[in-house]
Amino acid sequence: MMQRSKTGIKGFDKLVEGGFPAGTTILYTGTPGTGKTIFALEYLYNGATMFKEKGLFVTFEESKEEVLEQGKQFGWNFADLEKKGLLKIIAIPAREISKNTSNDILEMCKKEKYKRLVVDSLSTLSVNAPIFSVAEHLSISEVVNQSTVFSPPVVGDLMVKRFIYGFIDDLRQINGITTLLISENSIHSDFLSRDTVSEFLCDGVIVVTFESLGGAYSRSLLVRKMRQTKNDEDIHPLEINKDGVIIHDIDEKGK
Ligand SMILES: Nc1ncnc2c1ncn2[C@@H]1O[C@H](COP(=O)(O)OP(=O)(O)O)[C@@H](O)[C@H]1O
Ligand SMILES: [Mg+2]
Repeated sequence: MMQRSKTGIKGFDKLVEGGFPAGTTILYTGTPGTGKTIFALEYLYNGATMFKEKGLFVTFEESKEEVLEQGKQFGWNFADLEKKGLLKIIAIPAREISKNTSNDILEMCKKEKYKRLVVDSLSTLSVNAPIFSVAEHLSISEVVNQSTVFSPPVVGDLMVKRFIYGFIDDLRQINGITTLLISENSIHSDFLSRDTVSEFLCDGVIVVTFESLGGAYSRSLLVRKMRQTKNDEDIHPLEINKDGVIIHDIDEKGK
């Protein structure tokens, strides 16, 4: 049977035959405030404490202090896990992302043999990283001599897509690491991610939404895609309580 990377998150693993297929890359996408960061942190916390799997959390969204503080609210002692070498938290301000950032992450994963990687978020990495490679790949003369002038958004869009293709492909080359790529979706669109390609490239896609209708739960989770898995296909209420994330069965909702 195929190995599973168990999240240990209440109510989740049974939706995907016991966990993410080990070694795959999962896109975890949703609008702000849907609990993406908290889910990802719990995935790493449980990985370290329940399954003794080393994890790496890379964030471009928050400071390390904020991550440690968020963990404390749920009783997750990240500082202690870092001391034990079971977790590494790296906070890189978005403005400090360079063309080397993604390679640095990949090299670190190979060297330290992490079993779990979270990138929070792919959206921020992918729009900031490619900017620095433009100069190398496109000379000014190439651009200004074009008879067809691409508008900057189109060029930018292509750069982001090309970056994502490369990054996800590189992740695939690393043995034994299961990756959660968080994708910040700002608007409702026909695509699951803002970049429109990562959902096709990733092995799995989880979609979380926030829609407050005044009921018991405002957030919900759907396993939209999971290769090598007969996954659950329902939309489940997602709750964040004092212990972290809970995915409820759908029939619990009306009770
Ligand atoms: N200690 C807590 N207990 C319950 N809910 C919390 C707690 N801390 C944060 N939240 C909820 O989680 C939300 C933030 O979750 P987060 O994972 O950062 O969202 P995202 O990464 O999707 O933007 C907050 O808006 C709040 O509603
Ligand atoms: Mg977040």
